[in-house]
Amino acid sequence: MALDKKFIDQFVNVTAYASLASSYLVGKKDKIAADKAAVDVMRSELNKINFKGKIVIGEGELDEAPMLYIGETVGGGKVPELDIAVDPLEGTNFAANNLPGALSVIAITEKNNLFHAPETYMEKISSRVNENGVIDLDFTVKKNISNLSDYLNKNPENLTACILDRPRHKKIIDELEKLKVKIKFITDGDVSGALLVTDEKYNVDIFLGIGGGPEGVLAATALDSFNCGFQARFLFETNEEKFRAKKMGIKDLNKKYELNEIVSGDSIFCATGITSGDLVTGIKIEGNKFISETLVTHKSSNYKKKLKLIKNINDIE
Ligand code: FBP
Repeated sequence: MALDKKFIDQFVNVTAYASLASSYLVGKKDKIAADKAAVDVMRSELNKINFKGKIVIGEGELDEAPMLYIGETVGGGKVPELDIAVDPLEGTNFAANNLPGALSVIAITEKNNLFHAPETYMEKISSRVNENGVIDLDFTVKKNISNLSDYLNKNPENLTACILDRPRHKKIIDELEKLKVKIKFITDGDVSGALLVTDEKYNVDIFLGIGGGPEGVLAATALDSFNCGFQARFLFETNEEKFRAKKMGIKDLNKKYELNEIVSGDSIFCATGITSGDLVTGIKIEGNKFISETLVTHKSSNYKKKLKLIKNINDIE
């Protein structure tokens, strides 16, 4: 069954108001406060919507997070039953330091259609190409770039790869440099990084590297609506991470996941800008109104839009 279109506006409201709440703390050097503001408002806005939602990706396990914890029920109704992934503030450093790219993000599917991702790192790869055997997490960087170059009919020196600037990516970066691929380094925010392959105007042909698992699931939801390619593998470092993964039902800890094993069926994705970045512009306040921009996708209706909304500041609770 498809998700009712009426939910689009309702969930955009959720990320728009969460972004507004967090925007008051932009540049205040306090990641925790900026996150908490977004969490509180996201939760109260979710509870105004008539549905029964289960948080499958949230602020952590019940013992770590008082709100929007994994397993928490949100929404003000009994039906429909939906799964929800949230990242009320994606890019806590961006918000705390008033840097571009802070977002408030949510992804919704019908019940049992969204992967319950543990809070671990994830190796991920996304590209505009969604055909078997062209881009693959198991291929070497060289093979992926050569395949992409053939497929897009672009020389490697005209390809751009996006990657988080981290020491753990040294090998990949060295290889990309050797192949003369242009690199777009991001310092944080790999939901946005992974989504830069969705439109040629961003000038990113491939996103790769290791980032957060929850962020991977959120990005996968939007990538699915854009019909882009995505594969992922969780990386479990400690025994505790392995234990939690097994408890969540993950049997093969080294499994490579295809996009539709992470998200299936219909979905809605909303990412509102808190500070302006590559993907969306940030919150602007004018008098008692605020302007927000949200990237929204609704898979079944093939709806993909950047929605600019002007709303009343005082409507926030
Ligand atoms: P936060 O919003 O939780 O600070 O996450 C930002 C982020 O850059 C994510 O986008 C990314 O997946 C992850 O951190 C990368 O983790 P690390 O900073 O440990 O490399």
